[in-house]
Amino acid sequence: MGNEGRLGRLNSLLRRRGVVLPSYEIYGGVSGLIDYGPVGARIKRRVIDAWIDHWSSIGGVVEVDSPTITPKPVLVASGHVDEFNDHMSECSSCNAVFRSDHLLKDVHENPDSLKAPELDKMIAQSAIACPSCGKSEWGDASPMNLMFPTRIGATRGGRDAYMRPETAQGMFMLYPALFRHFRQKLPFGAMQTGKGFRNEISPRQGMIRLREFNMAELEYFIDPEDPPTPDLGEWGSSVSLLPDPEGPHAGEHSLTFSEALDSGIVKHPTVAWFLALTWEFLVHVGVNPERIRFRQHASTEMAHYADDCWDCELSGEHGWVEAVGIANRTCHDLLSHEEHSGSKLLRGWRQFDSPRTETRDVLAPKGAVIGPAFKDEAGAVTKALSELTEIPDSLPFVLHLADGSKVEITGEMVTRKNEEVTLHGEYFTPHVIEPAFGIDRIIWHILDHGYSEIEKEGGEYTILGLKQTVAPFDVVTLPLFDKDGMGDLARRISSRIDSLPGIQGDMDSSRSIGRRYARADEIGVPWAITVDHASLEDGTVTVRRRDDQAQVRTEVESLLSHLSSGSVGDLF
Ligand code: GLY
Repeated sequence: MGNEGRLGRLNSLLRRRGVVLPSYEIYGGVSGLIDYGPVGARIKRRVIDAWIDHWSSIGGVVEVDSPTITPKPVLVASGHVDEFNDHMSECSSCNAVFRSDHLLKDVHENPDSLKAPELDKMIAQSAIACPSCGKSEWGDASPMNLMFPTRIGATRGGRDAYMRPETAQGMFMLYPALFRHFRQKLPFGAMQTGKGFRNEISPRQGMIRLREFNMAELEYFIDPEDPPTPDLGEWGSSVSLLPDPEGPHAGEHSLTFSEALDSGIVKHPTVAWFLALTWEFLVHVGVNPERIRFRQHASTEMAHYADDCWDCELSGEHGWVEAVGIANRTCHDLLSHEEHSGSKLLRGWRQFDSPRTETRDVLAPKGAVIGPAFKDEAGAVTKALSELTEIPDSLPFVLHLADGSKVEITGEMVTRKNEEVTLHGEYFTPHVIEPAFGIDRIIWHILDHGYSEIEKEGGEYTILGLKQTVAPFDVVTLPLFDKDGMGDLARRISSRIDSLPGIQGDMDSSRSIGRRYARADEIGVPWAITVDHASLEDGTVTVRRRDDQAQVRTEVESLLSHLSSGSVGDLF
């Protein structure tokens, strides 16, 4: 079997078996939109569940869920309204529009890092032919914002909004609730899975470049002066790392995560830890470890919010593709949201080892005025006054209280003093380390890496070697014939399988047993159980292993307990 049509055969299998299909096909389809069918939706659910379990296991991380519709001011503050652009070039001859950097993918290693004038120069110098009409006449590259605009409310009072381009902003909005949840103690993280939206200029490559896609992001909030530095020794494997091509470590390195940190190739200990955890997750869900590499962005390529970013790239039918970005977003988002919203709740608290004294301007509250003026809130007002980091030049001014409310402080309520104060700690803006996973791209590579075509009995045979953790079904039950009680027994066994916690079975009784094994192998079901005449007599069944088609006979009860404990392989 040649390799040239493998991509086409894999895509056709995914469509035929209800894994991944083009959306709205009966109306001609829409590029950049896909459906997960009855088999694919189960794979996706399991990948997402595995992702949540994986990141929950590091501790201090909770799941949240925010809206996809995002008011414009949030995305102005985050920088997406001004900066979240791709450049597009229009063919002057046929008016087809393409991403400028994609036109240059065969002539430049990293065209995403080029600015508009460089893109135009290189497109002209390389005489890039229009993929639609073949001519080489291009207009100037111009930026296109990738967000989908929308409106909240249909009437004139409606508000401008966008479909979220990342789930991250929802987690920054929830920072005050997270800070309270974690009892004001960093580090902690929030994770969210859900849809993101990007109006890609000319999406191609199936599941790789989507306009509506599945994201899984963790925002991990840290004190930059005290970042988590876990021991990386437990990850002993060497991985391929490609640091910034313009930096001191340019070139490809094969190192353990611990060596990558010690050598200074990965600068930040928490980033190094997240690279390791990302690698572990991908291998756990079935990505081939030989086809994983980490590539650091050049400074010109970095997203507007990042100070350092490593892409985890996977290789497959579409070449090396970014599947995860691990970015050090520093205090960019929280600080910007503080500046734009005026909220003082986007901060962390750093307790000093021992109290410090400082001489500073203070506004000392006059109890006799503050008490009657604010009644129950007087204590909160006094506390907020004592925690002011900047004393306003003039009064009255608006004071933000810890619960998010605001009060006006007038000249009669306070005395301006210069006094020695004892400080037990200080507020600061936390930094954020963010691993952001493209779930569709990961699923694509799980399918691509698991797909194999073998010669069997003189014909083509396809196996999807999915790990049981992400297989659409753990096991399929097959009656040899759907008669003489075999079908009924198979249905009873199948329903007992479905009642096992975390285990999902399927049943198939149509056509020959050989065809049914082939159908299960094709969608990656790791185990098949055959119910035959002997099963009716002695309660045993045949268990078949997908990967080598070995078979053993075992009692149903033993099979069920091995399924429950995830150890069916021990029966062989
Ligand atoms: N939050 C990462 C991204 O938007 O890709």
